[in-house]
Amino acid sequence: MEKVIFDTDPGVDDAMALLFLARHSGIELHGITTVFGNASVETTTRNALYLAQRWGIDAPVARGAELPFVEDRAQRHWPTYIHGDNGLGNIDIPETLSRDADPRPAYRFIIDEVKAHPGEITIVAVAPLTNLALALQEAPEIAGLVKRVVLMGGAFSMHGNVTPAAEANIHADPEAADRVFTASWPVVAIGLDVTMQTVMTRVEMAEIAREGGEGLQLLSDLSQFYMDFYGERVGDGMVVHDSCACVYAVAPELFDVETGSVRVVIEGIADGQTIMKPDRFRFGPSPWDGYPSQTVATGIRADEVLALIRKTLLGQA
Ligand code: BDR
Ligand code: CA
Repeated sequence: MEKVIFDTDPGVDDAMALLFLARHSGIELHGITTVFGNASVETTTRNALYLAQRWGIDAPVARGAELPFVEDRAQRHWPTYIHGDNGLGNIDIPETLSRDADPRPAYRFIIDEVKAHPGEITIVAVAPLTNLALALQEAPEIAGLVKRVVLMGGAFSMHGNVTPAAEANIHADPEAADRVFTASWPVVAIGLDVTMQTVMTRVEMAEIAREGGEGLQLLSDLSQFYMDFYGERVGDGMVVHDSCACVYAVAPELFDVETGSVRVVIEGIADGQTIMKPDRFRFGPSPWDGYPSQTVATGIRADEVLALIRKTLLGQA
């Protein structure tokens, strides 16, 4: 059983990833931590609580950072044209929910949970990495106690999706991301290089909704707005960015990887760009030296990943 903390900014593709983690038989979901990103942290926390309520997920939800690690970087616009005004494709969400957030801030929840299960927790992080950077700042020793961090973020051999250089989760908090990549815990980055190839078609989503009942109908409803956005870019369907990171946690054999130290560009026109120094190349002295070798996904068996997502959402994996 993989013990997982899910760090997220729901977010349409985050919602699918949450249901994947909750339904996969090899995963024990220990907690959900929220952060700003696809919407404000108020909204992403409300969304996490709402999804947990609707899908019967008992794991605690801890509210996280509302601002980036360097606070004057605060994001001025939310990507409402991708995730809707409410972060979940503009579906109706009731004013009052039956669940409350955990009283602890997300970084404290992460520290407590990691210390309670030394060497066992995988953090699947699919949002700006602020909560992880705050946890490292508060308790640097957790780097040696986390099993690994699997994150959706970065663009290593291709352009970004917010600027030509940078992917959204990294661009929203480059300082936090650089801290996460250079800390002495194992990090696996599942970036746009592989997620952009992993598209669930609208037809398949409709089939899953028909087969899966109310819970899957909710997922399909909240995904329609996002599919309209991605439809113009990748064909008729949705890019399942965040679910790819969840799949790696249980089926790493579906990915090709490369190892090397990773740094994040801070400021300038490439602000938020992720750059790996592959272990297999020799270079002169550089700012990549002395940092741990991390793992970056370079290839994906997209059809098999999508098949596993489908089976898992339907409660068959
Ligand atoms: C990432 O950014 C967010 O919009 C998505 O939820 C995903 O985590 C893709 O760049
Ligand atoms: Ca996300």
